[in-house]
Amino acid sequence: MATAGIRVEGQPQNLPADHPVVRWVDEVAALTTPDAVHWCDGSEAENARLCQLLVDAGTFIRLNETLRPNSFLARSDPSDVARVEDRTFICSEREEDAGPTNNWRDPRAMRALLGDLFKHSMRGRTMYVIPFSMGPVGSPIGRLGIEITDSPYVVVNMRIMTRMGKPAMDEIVKTGEFVPAIHSVGKPLAPGESDVAWPCDPDTKYIVHFPETREIWSYGSGYGGNALLGKKCYALRIASVIARDEGWLAEHMLIIKVTAPDGRVKHITGAFPSACGKTNLAMLEPTIPGWKVETIGDDICWMKFGADGRLHAINPEAGFFGVAPGTSMATNANAIRTLYANCIYTNCALTDDGDVWWEGLTKQPPAHLIDWTGKDWAPGSDKPAAHANARFTAPASQDPAISSDWEDASGVPIDAIMFGGRRTTVVPLVREGFDWEHGVFLGSIMSSEMTAAAFGTIGKLRFDPMAMVPFCGYNMADYWAHWLEIGRKQGAKLPRIYLVNWFRKDAEGRFMWPGFGDNSRVIEWIFGRCSGEDDAVATPIGLLPAPGALDTSGLAIDDTALAALLAVDPAAWVREAAAIEEHYEKFGSKLPPQLAARLEDLKRGVASA
Ligand code: GTP
Ligand code: SPV
Ligand code: MN
Repeated sequence: MATAGIRVEGQPQNLPADHPVVRWVDEVAALTTPDAVHWCDGSEAENARLCQLLVDAGTFIRLNETLRPNSFLARSDPSDVARVEDRTFICSEREEDAGPTNNWRDPRAMRALLGDLFKHSMRGRTMYVIPFSMGPVGSPIGRLGIEITDSPYVVVNMRIMTRMGKPAMDEIVKTGEFVPAIHSVGKPLAPGESDVAWPCDPDTKYIVHFPETREIWSYGSGYGGNALLGKKCYALRIASVIARDEGWLAEHMLIIKVTAPDGRVKHITGAFPSACGKTNLAMLEPTIPGWKVETIGDDICWMKFGADGRLHAINPEAGFFGVAPGTSMATNANAIRTLYANCIYTNCALTDDGDVWWEGLTKQPPAHLIDWTGKDWAPGSDKPAAHANARFTAPASQDPAISSDWEDASGVPIDAIMFGGRRTTVVPLVREGFDWEHGVFLGSIMSSEMTAAAFGTIGKLRFDPMAMVPFCGYNMADYWAHWLEIGRKQGAKLPRIYLVNWFRKDAEGRFMWPGFGDNSRVIEWIFGRCSGEDDAVATPIGLLPAPGALDTSGLAIDDTALAALLAVDPAAWVREAAAIEEHYEKFGSKLPPQLAARLEDLKRGVASA
């Protein structure tokens, strides 16, 4: 560390002063002028010290040691509760490389702006250097990064969400490769100024990616994907660009291992938009006898071709940053079991006995709570006690359903890929693509009603191809072309592709499909299809389960509802096809001709149905 006057803690001994990592850390410190620089080793002791520091600062509330050992609650600033898509930027050299679904800024202009924003931005704070690995350290599918942040809340969350600390730093020194990610909450402290519990910049936020130089700069937010830069910024936006260049896939997907009653195993991934059920599905307890589902990942999936020609997937993360509201023993028992200890809760409500609560956790809310804004709350209040995007940060290793191969460095071979959105109408429960290309088409026309996980209009329908609109680091049309290219790889043994929808509603606004554990019935059908079972019927929109193919035994669902869930309404599909056409038009001449042709097939098919 060459920067004069700055206290330095824990710099690794094996790093000479002219090492690129040290030089970069020096540069960032010179720009942001923190009071101290702390090199994180990821140890238990370091974590305990930072958690206590957060308690002393009022950021963390230590929960009841008996009810929730070693667990903490944080309440964010009310302006800082979710990802900010309108403040997220892809700064590629050419605007067309960001594409119509991303915010683009000229990289030179953005660098100048960031230079101003980050100047002295860490004054009065400690700057933490967090070495981390996405994926098991040393995995051929994994990657390394270093996040610099002035938020100790980010450090303790990154320790759960990634493999963080000394082993990652050793690997960075060995390979010399890392993605640099710089984060500041954007609230420098004047001498003597006292800090607030959740420092951030309520007015100015920038989540910035430079895809060509593979750099991340994040300013003004301390929340989730805005601040834990290994997650969306690296593992999706930057990794999607690396994956395009290197011939693999970085996706917003859960990964599960499914075991049939006879012991056969298949691995399935699923892309669903934010707060649309990935964590639920990743920890699913099947309602059909003899079936087993185990978790490999709940949010992000990196897939590479193995020597066997199959796509092999790893979960690059080490923890779950899951939506709390709606999580209960009835909807996701394994998540509740995962949360027994060692977790961080953000924007949940606090009970009088020092535990957390959120809407849906219990049928009856407690008689008194402190809500996520720190105010008294009682049942009957017109505001929810927990924020709709309140989340838990939990170690994946604590999930009782975690698969024994979840840390397999070479990944698990993928048999099927599911895409799925939140659609109350039109889109059936499940359908299979005719082939890889048609499956890519199905992913590209996926749409979903927006949730509170992103800053936007809740409930508004939008096209969210492959659940990647907020996360694709380059032009979405080029991304589709990349998916098509993957399908043309010599000797590839490709997964089958499905489009599912758990969210159809009837005229009274009730969900028509029971969902949750009963989604195992759809998974059973997919499993069978991947084993060569011939129980599908061709329709203009894809292959649907043949009559009787879905196991609905024991379900309180009548034949009319089931028929409606699997129906293709030609008039509705003519309208849907027109909306798809409009969606495609945004991509102009970049739209892959194969997808345009598939849309023509769909239009012709539904017009004559
Ligand atoms: P991110 O972490 O934001 O990427 O999202 P996620 O996809 O992991 O979200 P999560 O699993 O936490 O989604 C939770 C929401 O999905 C809650 O509103 C659940 O009630 C709802 N949900 C999950 N599975 C089902 C289902 O099978 N049926 C219905 N109707 N809702 C479901
Ligand atoms: C999502 O919004 O898809 C998340 C949460 O998984 S965050 O990490 O905040 O983006
Ligand atoms: Mn997500």
